[in-house]
Amino acid sequence: MGGVVASAPGKLILFGEHFVVKGYRAIATSISLRARVRVEDTSGSWVELHSPTLGVKSRIPLDLSRSAGGELDVYVEILRALRKEGFSIVPHRVVVESEMPVAAGLGSSAATSVAYTLAYTTLLGSPLYGENLLRVSFEGERVAHGRPSGIDTTIAALGGTILYRRGEKPAPVSARIPEGYVFLVADTGLKRSTRDVVDYVLRVAEMMGEAGEQVYAVADKVVEKAVKALESGDMELLGNLMYFNHGLLVAVGASNLALDTIVDIARMRGALGAKLTGAGWGGCAVILARRGDVEVLRGELERHARMVKVINVNVPGATVENILSK
Ligand code: PMV
Repeated sequence: MGGVVASAPGKLILFGEHFVVKGYRAIATSISLRARVRVEDTSGSWVELHSPTLGVKSRIPLDLSRSAGGELDVYVEILRALRKEGFSIVPHRVVVESEMPVAAGLGSSAATSVAYTLAYTTLLGSPLYGENLLRVSFEGERVAHGRPSGIDTTIAALGGTILYRRGEKPAPVSARIPEGYVFLVADTGLKRSTRDVVDYVLRVAEMMGEAGEQVYAVADKVVEKAVKALESGDMELLGNLMYFNHGLLVAVGASNLALDTIVDIARMRGALGAKLTGAGWGGCAVILARRGDVEVLRGELERHARMVKVINVNVPGATVENILSK
């Protein structure tokens, strides 16, 4: 075998971000923007890593004794996790590309980790899938990135839509998006630190005492209703729940002017729903619209966002796209 190309999807948090930090439920879904990783056999004595998306390049020795530096370290951690599971480390070249904006809450990093793990194990002839793929990729993400929640890696490996609570195994949601409805993501282009927003929101919730607790309990009810709306394909209810959830995120301080502008424009132009997704203070918003309204909506949103894309949600997880012969 000469090489393997594997891909994995990014994710959106549809409901419950931030509230999930205090043990309430959230819903996440896979999206049709994917990370793609090409792994090729080489004859040298290195693992060569290249990310044109991030504009970085590095190489590490086969005994994995050195770090690759910065963002590329996650691949070294994945190889260490694979070595622990009995996989051999052979010389190869890795080229990583992502259709998602980075650091915008769409799970680009987890998708590349998962796609790399699948591509490399396929190159060795023992591809990891499902829970095994998830376990090894998550180990790499965990060591490289501190304490990720696991949502991004789960979605990238398994695809679909999940109901998620911290410390519990995610439950699949059988989402049904009827023909004629689409989602859009609009990227504000503003970078932010998830940790800073999470700390701020927790402080606001604390300050509000019982009123704060009640907002969290309402957010959990919204998640419950959203599961039903997704399973029955009730897009009007789903959209209203999105606007409602955005309001709760505004209440706890996770939004900002750029995100509120996108959500307000969506509402004014007849979108069924819109909300910030992920940490807030920047990153992306997600919008639900009728297909017939998309062009007008997109034109209007493009005046206020750095990027607007029509996407499919609830798509399949990691997959081998191509096997390259020598
Ligand atoms: O923007 P992201 O994808 O990093 O999502 C953050 C989601 C939070 O609920 C705000 C934090 C978390 O760890 O769940």
